Amino acid sequence: MKNIEVKKIIKPITASDGAGVKLKRSIGVDPDYFDPFLMLDEFGSENKDDYIGGFPAHPHRGIETVTYMLEGEFEHEDSTGAKGRMCPGDVQWMKTGSGIIHSEMPAMTDGRLHGFQLWINMPAKLKMSKPEYIYIDSDKIQIYKDDEKQVKVIAGKFKNVEGKVKKHNIKPIYLDIEIKKNATFSLSIPLTHNTFIYLIKGEVKIGDKKHEEIKNSTLIVLEKGEKLNIKGTTNSKFLLISGKPIGETIARGGPFVMNTKEEIINAIRDYNNGTFVR
Ligand code: CO
Repeated sequence: MKNIEVKKIIKPITASDGAGVKLKRSIGVDPDYFDPFLMLDEFGSENKDDYIGGFPAHPHRGIETVTYMLEGEFEHEDSTGAKGRMCPGDVQWMKTGSGIIHSEMPAMTDGRLHGFQLWINMPAKLKMSKPEYIYIDSDKIQIYKDDEKQVKVIAGKFKNVEGKVKKHNIKPIYLDIEIKKNATFSLSIPLTHNTFIYLIKGEVKIGDKKHEEIKNSTLIVLEKGEKLNIKGTTNSKFLLISGKPIGETIARGGPFVMNTKEEIINAIRDYNNGTFVR
């Protein structure tokens, strides 16, 4: 069994998106694409000026957006008629398919906002499918707990705990893990998968080989392998995200990710013509 080691340790860059929401972007910049993952943003601030503008109405096509709220509240609304308030611990897993137009606006005027948005690519055969939602309220997320760790299972499986996202083409694993100092977290991962860790806080040691210090908001791209071991150098919290690569060429055009340039031009044309939502 091949142990999983660190491939690259990456500090996110500070960016802004929507109407000036400050965030830390890692996937989408470096690496540009970690198949099937297109983008990872950590948004978070105690200063309302960094988030109050929110994400006014904008389109998406050809991707899945997975929003995981840790702190704060957002109101979301979209062209399928879906509407609701995202509260701390909630997950919104949206398969945009052929296209949705949505807005995500803060339902808070002060306090701390913290969360993640992940973009997952969709294969050519699903890109123009009907939009679909998986919404998981925080109290429906299954949690594994022992003296040394807590594992919230959003997708995939940890010990006897299984996530709500099932029958998915990339066979995703999405875990939110907290471990105590000196505790070890271990997981078997399919050899086919691309896997990364996003350290939220603390300091961890991954695999057997020596690597540079991993502290606070950091993306850690992992080698392919079967057995992952992570030790908490301090009390730590991190996300573990893994999925089967799609292996298709991609063309990006802002909120649209398709296979060819022509399909991007079509998406822009549909949006401008008002024929985007099917
Ligand atoms: Co969006």
